[in-house]
Amino acid sequence: MTEITRLDAPLVVGAGVAGLTVALGLPQAYVLTTQDMGSTWWAQGGIAVAWSPDDSPRQHADDTLSVSGGLGVERVVDLLTHGGPAAVENLIAIGAQFDRDEDGGLMLAREGGHRTRRVLHADGDATGAEVMRALIAAVEAGDRVTVIQRRAIDLVMAGDRVIGVVTSEGKKREVLLAPAVVLATGGAGRIYSQTTNPAGVTGDGIAMAGRAGARLADLEFVQFHPTALHVGKDPMPLLTEALRGEGAILVDAHGRRFMPQYHPMAELAPRDIVARAIFWQYDRGLGGAYLDARSIVDFADRFPTVNAHAHSVELDPSEHLLPVSPAAHYYMGGIDADSNGRTSVPGLWAVGEASSTGVHGANRLASNSLLEGLVFGARTSADVATSLVAPDGEPFAPKEAFDLPLVAGPALEDLRQIMWDRVGLVRTGPGLWEARSHLLELDSVLRRTIAGRVALELSLMVILAALRRSESRGGHYRADYPEPDPMQEHRTLIDPTRAQMTAVS
Ligand code: SIN
Repeated sequence: MTEITRLDAPLVVGAGVAGLTVALGLPQAYVLTTQDMGSTWWAQGGIAVAWSPDDSPRQHADDTLSVSGGLGVERVVDLLTHGGPAAVENLIAIGAQFDRDEDGGLMLAREGGHRTRRVLHADGDATGAEVMRALIAAVEAGDRVTVIQRRAIDLVMAGDRVIGVVTSEGKKREVLLAPAVVLATGGAGRIYSQTTNPAGVTGDGIAMAGRAGARLADLEFVQFHPTALHVGKDPMPLLTEALRGEGAILVDAHGRRFMPQYHPMAELAPRDIVARAIFWQYDRGLGGAYLDARSIVDFADRFPTVNAHAHSVELDPSEHLLPVSPAAHYYMGGIDADSNGRTSVPGLWAVGEASSTGVHGANRLASNSLLEGLVFGARTSADVATSLVAPDGEPFAPKEAFDLPLVAGPALEDLRQIMWDRVGLVRTGPGLWEARSHLLELDSVLRRTIAGRVALELSLMVILAALRRSESRGGHYRADYPEPDPMQEHRTLIDPTRAQMTAVS
């Protein structure tokens, strides 16, 4: 018998910036989270927001749209950038502390694709940690949010409606039923062997929404951060783009600067362009890539997180070149959701990196994702609060949710390598087909565990979407179709077949 508990308030799955913002905006909420820390904690660069008197939400929207490969949805982008200043004020009101200048004004950094300085930061390069500290303090200061430490495995349905979640605590399974379910489970960087994403960022929410038949969007668009420290660590330590905003340059092994030949904005070109340039440096044997940050004064004070990462491998950014490589970083694809977090399935909302609203199009503007969590998190709670339906009807869930162990074996590492080699920054039709057939060879092994099944299902959907897009745009580059095709300037929507469900008993 599976234990079934009825919750009297919405259930938010995930406790990063998006999940906690949703929960704090509700009169009562439950938050389901694991021990894994999630990506928000690791965010270095900051929060992009039109804060300076010389800037405006319109200019922020224009920069967001201009790097989006033609797929950014203007209406949604406008909501993001116009909602930015108020979202940041709310965060400051609950205690978040951002770096300030001598006059007490907020300091603004510049990152790739931004035509002006508009990135707020905290403790130099530890913005995500400060945002989380403030949000957790707000949760702890009240009694409206109850945190449940457990892993979500699958959604529970009654007819066409999501009414809850199957959870796991070790081998034990328990079903939680709730009047609304919000997935704020983050991205899927760990389906790649090279990623900046920590353990747990495995696309679980996206895969479980797909098994419930929720429409997914833009799955081919993975963002690779250009500069992860290339020293054999997993996850790869991030070297924030703000370093380039402060004058760090990219050079090859002979110290020659290479970005000006790729783009007029050089090191501050849009992220996909810098990432691919670094990829070519290795792939074409052009002498690799190093970040030269030696010109930045007071490095250790201004970038303490990066400084610590570098020193942990005996590199001193004030003296040494830092070897860099691109790494899977952010997922533009995800659960198709509108600007209130509504998905195609009643009872289910999605927000933050797990969702795909069109706000980033094919390529996200740097430091727009914490803002996304704040702005769309607040909009989602407002919508959820007016749409609660007490769970009713016989609960069903995918059968495997109850049978399989959680943790994947070594085949998951094979999958991650295949995805990096064939479905990474530069893709080709034959390479994508090859990846698909390698993954299908691993199918039966991967499907023996929950984690393996999630990674397999999501990876196959990424490959399918990448095969369907026979052009290059934003984060999706096909060497066999290197140009954008105006006929394909539209988002990719996929309606997955709902998994076979079994009655929960
Ligand atoms: C960075 O600091 O470079 C990362 C910021 C982001 O991914 O938006």
